[in-house]
Amino acid sequence: MKTVEMLKVAKEVLKNAYAPYSNFKVAVVLYGEDGLFTGVNVENSSLGLTLCAERVAVFKAVSEGKRKFEKMLIYTPGQEVLPYPCGACRQVMAEFFPEDFVVIVRNDREEEQFTLGELLPFNFTLKEG
Ligand code: THU
Repeated sequence: MKTVEMLKVAKEVLKNAYAPYSNFKVAVVLYGEDGLFTGVNVENSSLGLTLCAERVAVFKAVSEGKRKFEKMLIYTPGQEVLPYPCGACRQVMAEFFPEDFVVIVRNDREEEQFTLGELLPFNFTLKEG
């Protein structure tokens, strides 16, 4: 699936982002052999309970028995900054996805692309090798 198609899906689900406290809306599209899953950030008045869009998408997929994915688009509109995934989300991604998993971050002006290995080198794991 091309980035432009993933972006279209991200724009559709963005309306579901619940971000009344930060006004920083994020939509994620996760894509690969196991299909397509979306996520948006869901905030809470008890701010620490906020869940990032990335983890929503990953947990939706994994909880449905799907773990084979090749890339993720993270999109936020109306912001000057790019929505680089937070450290917690990088660690969750590293639990399920390989080092060559592609992460694309995008706002209205620009786009950057990384591998998960670049974003989180030497990640903690209990797996050997
Ligand atoms: N957020 C995400 O959903 N993903 C990111 O990559 C960065 C931050 C959310 C959390 C919170 O709802 C808002 O963006 C501002 O931090």
